[in-house]
Amino acid sequence: MRLNTLTFLMLGLRPISALAEDALLPVDQQTLTRMIANGQASDAFHEAFEAGDELTEFSFDAVRGVGAYIGEGRRFTRFPRADLTGPMEWANHFPTREGGANATSCIACHNAPFANGAGDVALNVVIDPAHTGDPTQYLERNTLPLFALGIPQRLAEEISLDLYLQRNSAIQTACVSGRAKVELHSKGVDYGTLTVTRVSQDPCEFETDTSDLAGIDADLVIKPFGWKGNKPTIRSFTRDAAHNELGLQAVELVGDQDGDFDGVTNELTVGDITALTTYMAALERPVSKLELDDLGLIELTAPERSEILAGEAAFARAGCVSCHTPSMTFKEAVFKEPSEVPGFFDVTFPDGSDPASHGLTPANSMTFELTGDQPNNIITLPVGTTYHLGAVARDATGAAVARWFTDFKRHDMGPGLSDPSDPLGLGASMFLTRSLAGVGATGPWLHDGRATTLEEAILTHGGAAQVSRDTYAKMSEETQAEIVAFLESLVLFNADPEE
Ligand code: HEC
Ligand code: HEC
Repeated sequence: MRLNTLTFLMLGLRPISALAEDALLPVDQQTLTRMIANGQASDAFHEAFEAGDELTEFSFDAVRGVGAYIGEGRRFTRFPRADLTGPMEWANHFPTREGGANATSCIACHNAPFANGAGDVALNVVIDPAHTGDPTQYLERNTLPLFALGIPQRLAEEISLDLYLQRNSAIQTACVSGRAKVELHSKGVDYGTLTVTRVSQDPCEFETDTSDLAGIDADLVIKPFGWKGNKPTIRSFTRDAAHNELGLQAVELVGDQDGDFDGVTNELTVGDITALTTYMAALERPVSKLELDDLGLIELTAPERSEILAGEAAFARAGCVSCHTPSMTFKEAVFKEPSEVPGFFDVTFPDGSDPASHGLTPANSMTFELTGDQPNNIITLPVGTTYHLGAVARDATGAAVARWFTDFKRHDMGPGLSDPSDPLGLGASMFLTRSLAGVGATGPWLHDGRATTLEEAILTHGGAAQVSRDTYAKMSEETQAEIVAFLESLVLFNADPEE
């Protein structure tokens, strides 16, 4: 069975050579916005999705400004060059380079087991955000998969909205009675406590103590992207990825300036970033082998099914679920770009411009239903009916549910997994609970790809996960194998590898 799935996944690799290099035109945000305003929102969505697909696959060239003026006559570098401090060289680019430029296309790295997936360690990114120039301080990052990123962003938005309300009611209480302490929680997860103390009345002024928050930032904005969990939106991650990985500087990042001194400006339009964001948000979701078996797309034997189910139960018993929250329910499973939730849209773009001046407004946002609008993985079942495997599923009550396996919190993973330095100031050993959606197909694992098996990934957990890890280590070999079988059952699936 396993071999068949793997073979199928391998077939998913897209032929890069088949792409029409000249067909890539800049996406115009104003056109998309006009379409949405004129009642053609669905057309705008499909156009953006298609454009995003092309943008992630396209191999950019120097004419389009790929790469950067590194120094030493180079355009690309796989390791940070803080030593190159001459005029226009690596160390003087703006915004500050973290690493790269590394590649000419997004799927150069995001390609395993097929396009938009994770990546081998050969494609790891090495960064030196603080420009130490000291290799012992460099951070190493393994490529993350790009599927269904609308799920984590929308869940993060809903969690933050809950936490904002809880903060507001604490402020109201404190203004009346002097002090209020709230236990923040959302979607079954505990985010620590917030204490509000009134410092003066009429008008009420108050202080907020955020020192007992758990795994999130003082602004209560959940940041579901990056191994560190430091970026709230697909858009914000994407324009930084374009700059650092490809040396493509978006207009919204640098305006009409040439911050990487490669002689090209306007390397990606606002519409291009919207298209990339829409595409990754609306990509098909990861699935489980049980689901594929239920649908008749693969065949599991009865013992294989029961092993996976036993593994899921043991995953809970080992305490893995205390961080890898198996599922979360949406209140409103709708993705919008730009979002309307404070903390999840740009008040101003990094270049200082107003997003509305580019046509990017919440009034005409790119909007799609997470429970049905995804273009991929609409499959015809062996019985002849159509099933939308790419969309977020609903539970028996009709609520949209995502099996994303994270609590969206950062945890101390102990000294063994620690980064060698902490340029972001989040704690060197702090990492976002990695989603396990698709984890059976995204190895190697962990933030630097050091784990070549799922078992290794589990046994490398330390810090706040030490007890859970030790519980796993003490389980019988059979139970351990069941947990691994469960993790291996969480896979990526593309019904139409040629698409
Ligand atoms: C050189 C390899 C490389 C290239 C090229 C690359 N990426 Fe990535 N990508 C990574 C790595 C490594 C990470 C994890 C980074 C981290 O967490 O610090 C990542 C993470 C991401 C994430 C966050 C996913 C998540 O769930 O947190 C997004 C979004 C993303 N990349 C989009 C893109 C886009 C869009 C492009 C092209 C413009 C691109 N990447 C090009 C290596 C690459
Ligand atoms: C204290 C929270 C916590 C607990 C408990 C926990 N994990 Fe994790 N897990 C994480 C974090 C954080 C990461 C990301 C580590 C990194 O960035 O290197 C992770 C990563 C993983 C990965 C690698 C994912 C990938 O894509 O590379 C697997 C597999 C995994 N955990 C399985 C488990 C299993 C199985 C258990 C129970 C035995 C468990 N975890 C318990 C927090 C936790």
